[in-house]
Amino acid sequence: MKKRILVTGGTGYIGSHTVVELQNSGYEVVIVDNLSNSRADVVDSIEQISGVRPAFEKVDCLDYEGLNNVFTKYPGIQGIIHFAASKAVGESVQKPLLYYRNNLVSLINLLELMPKHGIKGIIFSSSCTVYGQPDVLPVTEAAPIKKAESPYGNTKQINEEIIRDTITSGSPIHAVMLRYFNPIGAHPTALIGELPLGVPQNLIPYLTQTAMGIREKLSVFGDDYDTPDGSCIRDYIYVVDLAKAHVIAMNRILEDKQKDKVEVFNIGTGRGLSVLELIHKFEESTGVKLNYQIAPRRAGDIVKVWADPSYANSELGWKAETSIEDTLRSAWNWQVHLREKGIM
Ligand code: NAD
Ligand code: WQD
Repeated sequence: MKKRILVTGGTGYIGSHTVVELQNSGYEVVIVDNLSNSRADVVDSIEQISGVRPAFEKVDCLDYEGLNNVFTKYPGIQGIIHFAASKAVGESVQKPLLYYRNNLVSLINLLELMPKHGIKGIIFSSSCTVYGQPDVLPVTEAAPIKKAESPYGNTKQINEEIIRDTITSGSPIHAVMLRYFNPIGAHPTALIGELPLGVPQNLIPYLTQTAMGIREKLSVFGDDYDTPDGSCIRDYIYVVDLAKAHVIAMNRILEDKQKDKVEVFNIGTGRGLSVLELIHKFEESTGVKLNYQIAPRRAGDIVKVWADPSYANSELGWKAETSIEDTLRSAWNWQVHLREKGIM
């Protein structure tokens, strides 16, 4: 019998790609999403890609009884992958309580419900934002957690602590916390991808929208940083590679392969790319010319961060495999798909 997994935020960007990979690996998936930052028709696209339609429940993770009813309606759920969260850094500075409520209470509800329904494990979407500007690069999981730059970042730090404290207190659950670096790109079918609402804050959606002519010019935020070309450096990880890490982590929990009841892994490529390098790679790999300008620094930006993924490589047997060229082409194909569908 197929193992049943609950995916919160499963119609979102990373969630939808993960649902596809879970189904391809033989898991049965139940999605919970309140559709605050995604569309219901993502479920159709997931079905088109994988040939299997996941169960979908429009439920808010803040609704304890609503979640409880989902666990009752779908008995035997063995694991949870918890993507549902608010994620816009700038908005979190403007609306901290919205971020603290959504991101903390959703997790607390799940952690309370897990033992009640005999759910063994949870995978939590954490972020490299917990490292702030690391003192040593590439950054390992042992690096110190720096004071958060935003309420959003703080919710990731607090959520990691909530999970640790819950397990320390004797809760029977198991957890894997995955610290994602910068997820980009879209499924090779171009049927699912990132769908930013309004003006994108993140680099890749702004870049592809500029290339499409939706935005006039991409601003490169700063070219006078202490980096080889002066622009900031990040570790851009292909979303499908990232999705696969979740399947491996879930197998690990359910097959009792963990070393500790709570584990943490960096999920990145180990390769740092500057904003300018990324722009040039995009132009080279898609043949599309990009209109960009150098602009002032953006407040709060980390100068440079990239992962040491060796613990995930050796312990999970997971590795980022996709080239940056293929990844950028996938992001562009997704933008073209959105135009063809008249969405953007
Ligand atoms: P996303 O916004 O595309 O997906 C999140 C999904 O959760 C959306 O479909 C949204 O409708 C849903 N959601 C939000 N609050 C909810 C609630 N209370 N109840 C039910 N559903 C709710 O975001 P994403 O990029 O796919 O990110 C997924 C997770 O990964 C988030 O926890 C995010 O903080 C984390 N993360 C993302 C990045 C990134 O750059 N995208 C990097 C590191 C970590
Ligand atoms: C990448 C680089 C910008 C837009 C954020 C969150 C982080 C994580 C991922 C979830 C930076 C530059 C960007 C633009 C630019 N999310 N840039 N022009 O800031 O690394 O991380 O998303 O946990 O918490 O902070 O990602 O895509 O916004 O920026 O020059 O129009 O691109 O300065 O160097 P970031 P990003």
